[in-house]
Amino acid sequence: MTLLKKGKLLMFLGSQVIVAALFVHMSVHRPLSQREKSRRPVHVLVLSSWRSGSSFVGQLFGQHPDVFYLMEPAWHVWMTFTSSTAWKLHMAVRDLLRSVFLCDMSVFDAYMNPGPRKQSSLFQWEQSRALCSAPVCDFFPAHEISSPKHCRLLCGQQPFDMVEKACRSHGFVVLKEVRFLSLQALYPLLTDPSLNLHIVHLVRDPRAVFRSREQTAAELMVDSRIVLGQHLETIKEEDQPYYAMKIICKSQVDIAKAIQTLPEALQQRYLFLRYEDLVRAPLAQTSRLYKFVGLDFLPHLRTWVHNVTRGKGMGQHAFHTNARNALNVSQAWRWSLPYEKVSQLQDACGEAMDLLGYLQVRSQQDQGNLTLDLLSFSPILGQVFREG
Ligand SMILES: *[C@@H]1O[C@H](CO)[C@@H](O)[C@H](O)[C@H]1NC(C)=O
Ligand SMILES: *[C@@H]1O[C@H](CO)[C@@H](O)[C@H](O)[C@H]1NC(C)=O
Ligand SMILES: *[C@@H]1O[C@H](CO)[C@@H](O)[C@H](O)[C@H]1NC(C)=O
Repeated sequence: MTLLKKGKLLMFLGSQVIVAALFVHMSVHRPLSQREKSRRPVHVLVLSSWRSGSSFVGQLFGQHPDVFYLMEPAWHVWMTFTSSTAWKLHMAVRDLLRSVFLCDMSVFDAYMNPGPRKQSSLFQWEQSRALCSAPVCDFFPAHEISSPKHCRLLCGQQPFDMVEKACRSHGFVVLKEVRFLSLQALYPLLTDPSLNLHIVHLVRDPRAVFRSREQTAAELMVDSRIVLGQHLETIKEEDQPYYAMKIICKSQVDIAKAIQTLPEALQQRYLFLRYEDLVRAPLAQTSRLYKFVGLDFLPHLRTWVHNVTRGKGMGQHAFHTNARNALNVSQAWRWSLPYEKVSQLQDACGEAMDLLGYLQVRSQQDQGNLTLDLLSFSPILGQVFREG
């Protein structure tokens, strides 16, 4: 059975059957020897949504010298089918990710113009340290923190083949993606014997996401239309931002719940991370992320994480990493969003907020009272992490 057929078949079965099928699938494959294990590449999917701090988390991985990182490869799929829906595109996105994890970049042929390509044909390629440093681009050493701005100026002319070479020469392939609204499409990847997939599920307070989406609405317009899909015509324009958030929040709940139905062995390949916990304890949380996938927290990365989360970061733009004053920024919705909007959003995202551990506010006064900590226990997290 081909992977695609298997994927389609799984989609048609109930969740109980899926779990059973996963068990069978796992036990059929003989266990790998220690030697084989240590040589196998590790694949990491940072699974998140728009404006949730995923560029920063992507950078945490991408700056590591053992990692080949790409930011949102599925952008190419969505921008090719702008009048489709997220659900219709799930399988194409899944298959694209699988190919990229295996360093087969020919998959982009379907989504790029024919003819000679540069590595700069890739969306946000300059966010990838591997494409911005030696041996791909000799201006910058591999063991230094890479700057997307400098990289864009000096490294864009490399041929597209370099992407595949760079990918194959790293032991870790990390992809950040925001274009999955369900986990089901990903099940076959979790049990695929040619992959060694780990999922980092990153979420953020929907109220902060909403505020950030408002500020970058123009940049997110095409994506938001695809998220709204068939609802685009039926939902009033002023309600669309809330409806998009409702869909996104529901997808976060579905993903978190779907994980809990998986066999224990697969649950261990999943890590749940709240952006707020990361900004409160950047070093401890980064350490947790690295440990999860098996990366060493190198000294220059420690200094860098400390620096960027303490006000020595980069500029602010929808696709740029910015953890500057991250703690303050993560609370900004509390004084910049009117309570009426917060209240309407809480109605759309209440279930997600309860599950992910974000307390709702019931008055303008509570919203503005910064001594009220709105981050609480999440049943998924098991515990709230704090640094120091
Ligand atoms: C961290 O900041 C210090 C002080 O500004 C600077 O000297 C150092 O190069 C920075 N290190 C990294 C890895 O960003
Ligand atoms: C956070 O930002 C707001 C608005 O920019 C500012 O008024 C406030 O003083 C800042 N607080 C801290 C602790 O930096
Ligand atoms: C703010 O919240 C704290 C903690 O719940 C409470 O003690 C205090 O009275 C509140 N202040 C205002 C002005 O509501």
